[in-house]
Amino acid sequence: MTDSRPLISRRTTFKGMGALGAALVLAACSGGDDAPSAPEAESGDVLASTSEVPVGGGVILADRGIVITQPTEGEFAAFSAVCTHQRATLSDVDADGIHCPRHGSVFDATDGSVVNGPASSGLPEVAITVEDGNILAA
Ligand code: FES
Repeated sequence: MTDSRPLISRRTTFKGMGALGAALVLAACSGGDDAPSAPEAESGDVLASTSEVPVGGGVILADRGIVITQPTEGEFAAFSAVCTHQRATLSDVDADGIHCPRHGSVFDATDGSVVNGPASSGLPEVAITVEDGNILAA
C-alpha cells in the first residue's frame, strides 16, 4: 500500500455520511478485529497531504491504523488509531482531542496521552516527516 488517496477518500465519505457513516465505521470495527494490530506504513509511504489534515483536528486512516493530527498550524503528529482500552478504531479528532467511539476515551492530539478514560495508556506515536506538502511515514 503506497497510495493513501483512496483511504482519505473513504474517510471523507464516512464523514459526509454523518451518523450513517459513523454507524458503518462502528459496525466495521465492532470486534476490533478489522483494525491493524499495529500501524501499517513503511518508511517513505505518503500518508496524506498536509492540506487534508485540518488545523485543530485530524484524519484517521483506518486501514493503516494511523491518526494524523495538526494541533496548531504547521505542527503535525501521528499516532496509532487503535484505542489502548479495548482496541476500537478511533473515530474522529476535534479541539478536545482524538475520540474513541466505543467507551468514550479521549486522547491528546499533541502527544497521544489520555485526556479521558477508560483508557489508561496513551497512543503509541507514529514517526512522520513532512515534505513538499505531504506527510510521509518516517
Ligand atoms: S475501546 Fe476505546 S474507550 Fe474502550
